[in-house]
Amino acid sequence: MPGHAIITGGSSGIGLAIAKLLSSRGASVSLIARNRDKLGAAREVLLSAADGRAKVQTFSADVRDAEELQQAIASAVAAFGTPDWGISSAGIVIPGMFVKQSLRDHEDQWRTNYLGSLQFAHFILPHLEKSSRPRLVLIASGAAFAGLYGYSSYGPAKFAVRGLAESLRVELKPRNVSVTIAFPGDTDTPQLRSELKLRPKVTSELARGGGVMSPEAVAKGIISAAERGDFQVTFGWQLKMLARTHSLIAPLLRGYQDWLIKRSGEDP
Ligand SMILES: NC(=O)c1ccc[n+]([C@@H]2O[C@H](COP(=O)([O-])OP(=O)(O)OC[C@H]3O[C@@H](n4cnc5c(N)ncnc54)[C@H](OP(=O)(O)O)[C@@H]3O)[C@@H](O)[C@H]2O)c1
Repeated sequence: MPGHAIITGGSSGIGLAIAKLLSSRGASVSLIARNRDKLGAAREVLLSAADGRAKVQTFSADVRDAEELQQAIASAVAAFGTPDWGISSAGIVIPGMFVKQSLRDHEDQWRTNYLGSLQFAHFILPHLEKSSRPRLVLIASGAAFAGLYGYSSYGPAKFAVRGLAESLRVELKPRNVSVTIAFPGDTDTPQLRSELKLRPKVTSELARGGGVMSPEAVAKGIISAAERGDFQVTFGWQLKMLARTHSLIAPLLRGYQDWLIKRSGEDP
């Protein structure tokens, strides 16, 4: 399997757990995040887990900044070659009530969670398509399925990531790029630990039933799903149920689009 994985948000939490997993299987990993100290610490974690033999490089870039992100991806490809995995895990959450949150809170989450995923997909695809087994993985959230109390600024950005993944799934299938979107629930990462300090009571009640997973278990679920070519991966029965019932005609619509693509002879 080895290959090369480029991972945004690879210095922490779920992104770092994915990097550990792929690196332990011999993949070269390129981690993209903003904070250089956290990137350095993540690199040390990967190196020490493999007795110094892990192939890991880090790039400080902000996923909200198109130029920086494009440059980081280009540098990662120049050093470690064509990527086989493009994994977008960079994300932030600021829960709170709509009437109390600033527009800045909305904008920060929108630009990091949605624009960051979109820009990553845009810049990595031309490289990814050169792989013999290209996989694009976007990390959304259980908040991407329904409007939830306390998530008016986080949820819509994750809905948008889901919308993007659904279009990419249809368009990239004829180009042999496998697309996987992950919908984790609460996962024990630095993000969750800081979120819990801000989470409104009702939001905590809503999340309580799902429990908290380890980032390693979530990473394993995501990579196994992507290797099987599954489009979507959810965690826990509550999110599985939400994922299945929220839009019942989607499979029909997708099949119709597959048929239209074939009939048109258009190169997507
Ligand atoms: N943990 C959960 O309970 C949970 C649940 C559902 C979904 N998720 C989603 O899973 C993904 C990973 O979350 P996590 O819990 O692993 O978070 P985390 O531990 O806080 O890690 C987030 C990573 O994203 C990077 N990042 C944040 N903003 C960035 C930016 N503008 N540009 C580049 N990198 C940026 C961070 O590094 P820097 O800050 O140094 O840039 C860090 O590497 C996110 O998309 C999150 O929304 C998490």
